[in-house]
Amino acid sequence: MVLQHVPGQLSDAAKVLERCAALGEISEEDGLLVRRYGTDAMRRANELVAGWMRAAGMTVREDAVGNLIGRLGDGDRTLMLGSHLDTVRDAGRYDGPLGVMVALAAVERLAAPLPFAVEVVGFADEEGLRFGTAYLGSAPVAGRFDPAWADLRDADGVRLGDLLRGDPATAARDDLLGYAEVHIEQGPVLERLGEPVGVVTAIAGQSHATVRFDGEAGHAGTVPMDARRDALAAAAELVLAVEAAGVTATVGRIDVEPGARNVIPGRATVSLDVRDPDDATRRDAVRALHARAQEIADRRGVGLAWPGTADFPAVAMDERLSAAWGVATRLPSGAGHDAATMAAVTPAAMLFVRCRGGISHNPAESVEEADVAVAIDVLERFLHAV
Ligand code: HGY
Ligand code: MN
Ligand code: MN
Repeated sequence: MVLQHVPGQLSDAAKVLERCAALGEISEEDGLLVRRYGTDAMRRANELVAGWMRAAGMTVREDAVGNLIGRLGDGDRTLMLGSHLDTVRDAGRYDGPLGVMVALAAVERLAAPLPFAVEVVGFADEEGLRFGTAYLGSAPVAGRFDPAWADLRDADGVRLGDLLRGDPATAARDDLLGYAEVHIEQGPVLERLGEPVGVVTAIAGQSHATVRFDGEAGHAGTVPMDARRDALAAAAELVLAVEAAGVTATVGRIDVEPGARNVIPGRATVSLDVRDPDDATRRDAVRALHARAQEIADRRGVGLAWPGTADFPAVAMDERLSAAWGVATRLPSGAGHDAATMAAVTPAAMLFVRCRGGISHNPAESVEEADVAVAIDVLERFLHAV
């Protein structure tokens, strides 16, 4: 099959880009895009998308955790399409919303009912920005809402449970025949291959940890260099060990206390994100980093607190459903996606769309209209091939 856009169908892709741009204007802050779970910006984004869904003939609702769901057609079984509508801080326009808008565009093309119901979902939280959760939107749909999450608080002390609209258990679904998600690649593979789209084989596993070094604060001008217990210097050694760990690993945040020019850091708290397609490789790397952190702490006379490591195993996409994309190019995903959660309750498949420079989690995210046109065509065919 030749993957190129059909002249005359570009307008659907242009509409998708326009809608992503409109959503990109809906932010909690002026001058940058950020939409976190349960905020007024999320509410406004959902209202905008709900209007487009209704115009497409869908019935629209929000579930107990605030996922926006448009439904078309009848039947006991439902094919769910979608992605997330929340963003990271200073986000691009496409990570999440592109998948919701491409799904909507494909549904808008349906001329006749399918033998199953189709839903387009805009998940309320994939990025976990506000409460540090993973897949807060899709986890309840997959029947995996952790009741302990209700007591999580955001930076302002707002309790997650107070933002819920009902019992998260009611969001769980047992009627799904599949979940399909279109998403920007967020990497350079398709660009290097010269392909507009590719089928995702598997979503890499992730380990998340918060690691703390406790040293001793002191005067920057008087404590001799050989008498210091500098927590940030210990953290810095760990950051370099993470970089050399031999897996995909990142320290994205360091909090230093007390945090002043003329005070030796007494405490440094480091975020850790480790990923690999192979779960054993990833877990081995985390164990080695933990041992290394202990060695650094012991040598420097600082304390180490590593309270636990959250573990999200790698998830393979469903072979049969993935075949329905009718696309030969295949590639793994290093990023996490709602499809990883949904795969626990239904066959899940993903289609990646080439993005410029592989850039994402960055306002410079960019996709070509022609590639979006291909994605809509592929999803349209997928709906008839499932
Ligand atoms: O972190 C991730 O992989 C996703 O973008 N939330
Ligand atoms: Mn993201
Ligand atoms: Mn995403």
